[in-house]
Amino acid sequence: VRIGVLASGRGSNLQAIIDAIEAGTLQAHIVVVISNKRDAQALERARRHGLQDVFVDPKPFAGQPDSREAYDRALLDVLHKHEVELVLLAGYMKIVTPVLTQAYENRMMNIHPSLLPAFPGLDVQKKALEWGVKVAGCTVHFVTPGVDEGPIIVQAAVPVLEQDTPETLATRILAEEHRIYPRAVQLYAEGRLRVEGRRVHVEGAPA
Ligand code: GRF
Repeated sequence: VRIGVLASGRGSNLQAIIDAIEAGTLQAHIVVVISNKRDAQALERARRHGLQDVFVDPKPFAGQPDSREAYDRALLDVLHKHEVELVLLAGYMKIVTPVLTQAYENRMMNIHPSLLPAFPGLDVQKKALEWGVKVAGCTVHFVTPGVDEGPIIVQAAVPVLEQDTPETLATRILAEEHRIYPRAVQLYAEGRLRVEGRRVHVEGAPA
């Protein structure tokens, strides 16, 4: 599979995907890493591994009435130019419009640091602590127009501990993100994911 990654920041999930590919546990190729932030650490990681990195500046689109769609059309051009088959959102902090979700229906994944459908959106570890949940986790899902709403591919749970802060909880969740994101992509690469309504069936999974 030819992968395009969209990332805005640190890029630790991108790194986990790169590491899995280099270790041979993930059969895929990252053909382009794109960011809306010029100085994203994710772009730096891409360069360090000899991957194509592209910064797409949101500024020129800002004034337009359909600025988000116009920006996504620019992204789509880059994705098409590199013949990207699967798009991975990895800490990508812009909301994607139907321009992208339609072009990559069931071919675009996101990683989110909660057990969806609990706690969509931002600052979710803080929200989980405030709610008082005893189990937290992360979710890899296909991307649909509704934010954090798409069909769930893989989830992992972690305990919430008495002394947790949003930071310590985030760190525990992040370790699981780095495990399940490459795994979800490998299932896709093996052609084992079948979407039926909201459900993603994993073919060949043990009964
Ligand atoms: C992760 O917690 C991910 O779940 C969320 O944003 C964070 C990105 O981290 N969507 P990184 O840039 O991959 O290190």
